[in-house]
Amino acid sequence: MDDLLKEISLSGRVALVTGAGQSIGRGIALRLAKYGADIAVNDLNEETAGRTAEQIRSSGRDAVAVQADVSKSKDVDRMVDRAVEHFSHIDILVNNAGISADRPILDCSEELWDRHLDIMAKGTFLCMKKVAPLMLERKWGRIINLGSYVAQLNCFTKSFGPYCAAKGAIIGLTQVAAQEWAPHILVNAVGPGDVETDMMEKEWQEAGERTGVPAAQVKEKYRKRLLLERFEKPDDIARVVLFLCTPLAGQITGSHLIVGGGLPFTV
Ligand SMILES: NC(=O)c1ccc[n+]([C@@H]2O[C@H](COP(=O)([O-])OP(=O)(O)OC[C@H]3O[C@@H](n4cnc5c(N)ncnc54)[C@H](O)[C@@H]3O)[C@@H](O)[C@H]2O)c1
Repeated sequence: MDDLLKEISLSGRVALVTGAGQSIGRGIALRLAKYGADIAVNDLNEETAGRTAEQIRSSGRDAVAVQADVSKSKDVDRMVDRAVEHFSHIDILVNNAGISADRPILDCSEELWDRHLDIMAKGTFLCMKKVAPLMLERKWGRIINLGSYVAQLNCFTKSFGPYCAAKGAIIGLTQVAAQEWAPHILVNAVGPGDVETDMMEKEWQEAGERTGVPAAQVKEKYRKRLLLERFEKPDDIARVVLFLCTPLAGQITGSHLIVGGGLPFTV
């Protein structure tokens, strides 16, 4: 066994995870904490952010909950200032907060379009813009943005126009940021396939209502697309985020790693 195993520890590192009150974001916060990081837990929902932070504290790491809407620059400034006030620095930023809606382009309102792009594309931009200077000052940083298999070439999915546009923007931003902040900050995206979370349950429900097919049947159709035959769990995504924060991934930047159980090859 060599020293690499010791280096996987995130002890002394501080991570800010957005949208970490539930599902994938919560899984990432818990996984990074399990490997030694202290965590600033953001969510729009103050109560769920508080619950994740409490769970981390009871496991022995430090955590602070910060309610903020990542689509608003004033909120992002306040969130990052609060995290730095508490921990003195931020080493890892995970831009996870997101929404999705099953809506054909012709039925999509301007408001729904704006909300998708504001939370995911603009939110990722605002958080990176505020945190990257702190990382550059310390000459070390890891940024992981939540992409999606839908942002993989030729996999943009019918009736998810604003979602696909936002995820495409995130992948573009990831690649530009990786170039602008190399070699000190590694910037990557992780693209989940179908993770069994509130977001996906809502999508299966909405697709069922739109097509007149029971949600359970829609869900089973999605499952059958997966080479590995099961939906992902939040921790399947969290483990890859952890990997990207360790020296194991020290030569990876500007990538979009698809964690899709065989998607997108089967869509
Ligand atoms: N679930 C999947 O299969 C899947 C697939 C591909 C990509 N993703 C991406 O993973 C991320 C997490 O998805 P999830 O399934 O855990 O979703 P989720 O809906 O279960 O959780 C999203 C979290 O983000 C928070 N949030 C929403 N808007 C926010 C805002 N403006 N500011 C701060 N927090 C906000 C919500 O309160 C919630 O806690 C998203 O970016 C999503 O697009 C998910």
